[in-house]
Amino acid sequence: MFERQPVIIRDPRVLAFDYVPQKLIHREEQLRSLSVLFRPLIEGGGASSAFLIGSVGTGKTATAKRFCTDILQSAFEKGFPMDYIYVNCRQNSTESSVLLRLIQHFDEGYPDRGFSVSEMLRTLKRHVEKRELKAIVILDEVDVLLKKGAEDLVYQLSRFNEEEMVSSASLSMIIISQEYVLDRLDQASISTLGRANIIRFSRYSRDELRDIVASRAEMALMPGSVREDSLDLIADIASEWGDARFAIELLEKSAMLAEEEGSQEVTAEMVREAKALTYSTITESRLEQLDLQHLLTLLAVTRCLKENAYVTTGKAERMYQLVAEEYGEKPRKHTQFWSYITDLSDQGLLETRVRGDPEGGRTTYISIANIPSRILRSKLEEMLNR
Ligand SMILES: Nc1ncnc2c1ncn2[C@@H]1O[C@H](COP(=O)(O)OP(=O)(O)OP(=O)(O)O)[C@@H](O)[C@H]1O
Ligand SMILES: [Mg+2]
Repeated sequence: MFERQPVIIRDPRVLAFDYVPQKLIHREEQLRSLSVLFRPLIEGGGASSAFLIGSVGTGKTATAKRFCTDILQSAFEKGFPMDYIYVNCRQNSTESSVLLRLIQHFDEGYPDRGFSVSEMLRTLKRHVEKRELKAIVILDEVDVLLKKGAEDLVYQLSRFNEEEMVSSASLSMIIISQEYVLDRLDQASISTLGRANIIRFSRYSRDELRDIVASRAEMALMPGSVREDSLDLIADIASEWGDARFAIELLEKSAMLAEEEGSQEVTAEMVREAKALTYSTITESRLEQLDLQHLLTLLAVTRCLKENAYVTTGKAERMYQLVAEEYGEKPRKHTQFWSYITDLSDQGLLETRVRGDPEGGRTTYISIANIPSRILRSKLEEMLNR
């Protein structure tokens, strides 16, 4: 079964979605900011916190994990106990499941149910204290947790340090989100966590993506097995969103296609094929992250488009009002609607184009480029009916 030697992919693990490279190129600035914020901790002082904010695939998770792994190494060299615990709040989206995940880091056998949130908080604190640990908790995709009204957990965790832990233990936090979420926290947690500790992750430029994907190819693939113009094309395609994950997925899929076809190298045609294969899943994961009003706006646009290439914003807005009513929602005002369109366009789900019209005015036209409107429409309706 495994008779054929791979000729393209040398190390598939390097292409996995959760692989964290030794060096994160083009994130030096964010790593430096983290070092500055956490300097007191590594010098044996008290806890710190940071908020990482940026859109999809901009390296937030990878940067947080890289930073924690590196800081653990320094702590180890200095001889004090430090540890980090990563929690994905999409997978653990209630207060108790986050706490459970944190406690089970110390005690695998801790029962899944039967304890209240406050009991679990106490248990967690005891574990950290007992080990005199400088613990760092990464709360990734925290917006999911906050949208479910779990602000209090963030506050409770942030207070671990004020309440004077026994021993030199402390608990620091790295909070990650695609959107700005501080306004969802109350004043008390903001003041304990520090409002100033925001680190922003911008979308990667085309050239940055080119560097990222080239370096990943070098680690994962056989030397010389991917053509330079294939790397260019991957960077071009992924630059629409500035998303490194998409770029790496394109690399992985096209390398797999090359392998399957028994080709000696990854060609641009394979990249195009990989793009076609990847697009629908990418779109879907993006849709999952939209809130109700954005979904309604997008649905309105797809309903207008049908056979047409473009729709004017005026028409789209009238359709949006109908759609909102259909789903029992109050349509928002014009400026709000306009901001939804801008957001969707920023996320690559829509395209807008401004054109002059014969009367000398300017009209904005909206279109969707990469997926048939019919497919997008039925997907949106399915999500909204859920
Ligand atoms: N600067 C970089 N250098 C090398 N690889 C990177 C870099 N930034 C991101 N990556 C890789 O791109 C992929 C996506 O990055 P990551 O998961 O950190 O994004 P994210 O910002 O957390 O996205 P999301 O908001 O969707 O969770 C990962 O495989 C990561 O290793
Ligand atoms: Mg992430």
